[in-house]
Amino acid sequence: MVRFPAGFRIEPLERRHPRSAFRSGQPQVDSWLATRAPQSQKKHLTATRVLIDPEGAIAGFYTLATAQADFSDLPPELGRQLPRRNLPVAVLAWLGVSENRHGEGLGSRLLAQALRDCYDAGRTFPVIAVILDCIDENARVFYQRWDFRPLPGHANRLFLSWRELEAMVTDG
Ligand SMILES: CC(C)(COP(=O)(O)OP(=O)(O)OC[C@H]1O[C@@H](n2cnc3c(N)ncnc32)[C@H](O)[C@@H]1OP(=O)(O)O)[C@@H](O)C(=O)NCCC(=O)NCCS
Repeated sequence: MVRFPAGFRIEPLERRHPRSAFRSGQPQVDSWLATRAPQSQKKHLTATRVLIDPEGAIAGFYTLATAQADFSDLPPELGRQLPRRNLPVAVLAWLGVSENRHGEGLGSRLLAQALRDCYDAGRTFPVIAVILDCIDENARVFYQRWDFRPLPGHANRLFLSWRELEAMVTDG
């Protein structure tokens, strides 16, 4: 189980959450949460969970989705044993922490929780990997600390195989 600081709680995104006040330092990330995440969730295309601080503000959030990866997109060590067709993957579509709380470990905890969600879902609806697109170099550094690796042929896309995810979640 991922532990958040006392008084913080994770909740599925709802319209009552104060989304428009959220600032992560990346306007694209904030704009997703403020304007597109609720509609997308209503259409059941994505699932967003928000971390609420003791004052009721959004301290961070992440958004998950699913997608299909083309066989040719996968690195050989992963693709070799898999059928040559589109394959299901989990997508960590968005992640952000309020900029006044950067460096407190909340991003790592949210990422751990997002990966735990991917693992739990993947035991019922299998996926072969978790993929994400890095918004910038800072995000790349952050994710690569967690064993995400570049997906060949895609400049900003990283992946974590199911096997690596399983080892990570079941180890601790
Ligand atoms: C990336 C982001 C989520 C990290 O959140 P955070 O709460 O600051 O991260 P943490 O405090 O858990 O940091 C975890 C580790 O990564 C390191 N780290 C975090 N951001 C980093 C950065 N920009 N560059 C280098 N290292 C970084 C921290 O130093 C920390 O290392 P430590 O465990 O040795 O102290 C946050 O900076 C953010 O919201 N950025 C804007 C939105 C964004 O880029 N989202 C990702 C793409 S959608």
